[in-house]
Amino acid sequence: MITPDTIEKIMDAVRIEEVVGEFVSLKRRGVNLVGLCPFHNEKTPSFSVSAPKGIFKCFGCGKGGNAVNFLMEHEHYTYPEALRYLAQKYNIEIEEERPSPEQQQAMDLKESLFNVSAFAQKYFEERLHESEEGRSIALTYLKERGFTTEVIRRFGLGYCPGAWDDFTQTALKNGYKKEYLQMASLSKSKDQMLYDTFRDRIIFPIHNLSGRVLGFGGRILTNEKNRPKYINSAESEIYQKSKVLYGIYFAKSQMVALDNCYLVEGYTDVIALHQAGITNVIATSGTALTTDQIKLIRRYTSNVTLLFDGDPAGIKAAFRGLDLILEEGLNVRVVLFPDGEDPDSFAREKRPAEVRSFVEEQAADFVSFKTSLLLEETKDDPIRKAQLIKEIAKTIALIPEPIARSIYVQKCSTMMGVEEQLMVSEVNRIRREKLKNKHRQETPGGEDMGPEPDDRRAAPQKQEPEEANHRPEQEIIRLLLNHGGKEIIFEVENEDKRMEEVAVTVAEFILQDIRSDGLLPDNPACQAIFNEYAVCWEQKKLPTHSIFTEHQNDEVRKLAIDLLTSQHTLSKNWEHRHKIYVKEEEEELKVRVLYAVYAFKLQKLEKMLAEIQQKIRDASLQTSENDEMLLELMKDQRDLLEKRRAFAHELDRVVTR
Ligand code: GTP
Ligand code: MN
Repeated sequence: MITPDTIEKIMDAVRIEEVVGEFVSLKRRGVNLVGLCPFHNEKTPSFSVSAPKGIFKCFGCGKGGNAVNFLMEHEHYTYPEALRYLAQKYNIEIEEERPSPEQQQAMDLKESLFNVSAFAQKYFEERLHESEEGRSIALTYLKERGFTTEVIRRFGLGYCPGAWDDFTQTALKNGYKKEYLQMASLSKSKDQMLYDTFRDRIIFPIHNLSGRVLGFGGRILTNEKNRPKYINSAESEIYQKSKVLYGIYFAKSQMVALDNCYLVEGYTDVIALHQAGITNVIATSGTALTTDQIKLIRRYTSNVTLLFDGDPAGIKAAFRGLDLILEEGLNVRVVLFPDGEDPDSFAREKRPAEVRSFVEEQAADFVSFKTSLLLEETKDDPIRKAQLIKEIAKTIALIPEPIARSIYVQKCSTMMGVEEQLMVSEVNRIRREKLKNKHRQETPGGEDMGPEPDDRRAAPQKQEPEEANHRPEQEIIRLLLNHGGKEIIFEVENEDKRMEEVAVTVAEFILQDIRSDGLLPDNPACQAIFNEYAVCWEQKKLPTHSIFTEHQNDEVRKLAIDLLTSQHTLSKNWEHRHKIYVKEEEEELKVRVLYAVYAFKLQKLEKMLAEIQQKIRDASLQTSENDEMLLELMKDQRDLLEKRRAFAHELDRVVTR
């Protein structure tokens, strides 16, 4: 394990512009460097590197982070790999430390499970190719299904003999512990006896990214219906099925090279396609696709083609996978195989070249896929057609990237023969609704707060991270992060009734003012930053950016990076409405701080007020026993209204003078 000391040394030495500069050509623009984003296709640069802050950020696709994040994203390094790369670049000697006893134990357990799984894989493979039983039953079966020896070897397929405990006994004789055999789902116990979990099955080893075996799938050799066709390893310290994709070890380099991957349902589909020369293929292995799996895919490519069986179950699975993938910002296409065929059976009937051209030609973007499929059902029924438009708009609204969204809107409206504007407003309505649900607390001024989410006209470089900038609590955090240590000057009356100038830091002012009212940000990431900032502040330390930009919580990290890189904060609407014409941020810092604090409090107040008013409505619907309570509530309401008026007045005073 790399010591924290070494990590600190590395992070101190790193110059982000040098690290990124090896992969992206950067030009200076103001204090930042800009270039074409390596993470998405673009013609005008929206990728920006801030040397003083040590971070990069793309205003087009939203990716951002420090040098380590960049390497992990761009080079697909793991965290330690990225650190080692940087250590080498900056000639820093890596010190490693012995892990703590608990860490050691966890590592030992994992290592033991990996070891026993590797042993099992070798055993199964040996039995398939060398034993009489394996050759006559299992190897014959695989050959009959059309798999070549080469591909059987590449995927390390095996066979677990039908005897009760042949594998378990062999493993025990070789010194593998009973408990690990059970934890790795290789052996099970019944009446104190251990037996082989996978007995009499073809074995499909499941590999992790670096090619180590983490688990197994086992298929019966017959068509009998009373035994499950497949069984799989249970979850363990090394095998979490929602985070694993079958075949990714063999597919990843081609996923990068071809910038696409094929996602299928089963083990045999992966292998059959490999044999047909399609090697960028992975499978979910019978479970529904998860977001963790999509994130895994995204490390290698952002294009996914779903290959599904054309039966109703396959179509349903395709619909679900499609929404999930779009939501994660990846591009998705779909190929449906003729009803009753899966990629494996299809590949068996056709020549490799035919298979390849079939998947290439059939791949339909999801709008065409969904529209043509559902359009058939609607016939000329206008009501069902309207439902279909809504249905497709819902899917389009999931796409985070505005340009991609508008392309699909165009496409769908053409296919459906409806006005494009109609689709646009439907998609925007759904997105607005979702945003509202996500952040129920609305900002003062409500609809004036942000640009309308009709971003069809917005160029990507102007596109700011959604919801990032327009809310008071984020503005508070942004000011703390960017300007916490700077001073603002107030005039106060001293004991002699004379006016005196006092300097207060932004952090002190914000923290004191907000906490004295017992308030906290609502958004969890904002709250975390606020609290951790306050803890540092109490220890008389100014927290460094890296505490937050390297934070272990993804949301915190992302928010901090967004806020540290956002150029302006109030939407143009606001600035205009309140006549703030900001010259330089620093000059107007005091105004901004006061403004942010008041806006934040006002927002909280509005919320309390709304709650009280709801209670009043509830109470007044009931009987007279509630009269007293009602009076009480009315009084609270009056107080709040009064406070709000004072606040609003204060706010006006701050921004209009
Ligand atoms: P073949 O029938 O050998 O061609 O396998 P297949 O991959 O075509 O199977 P199918 O399409 O029926 O299922 C797809 C995937 O779902 C399989 O690869 C398995 O991972 C999984 N699966 C299928 N049947 C079962 C089962 O009975 N139990 C479990 N746990 N998983 C199954
Ligand atoms: Mn099949």
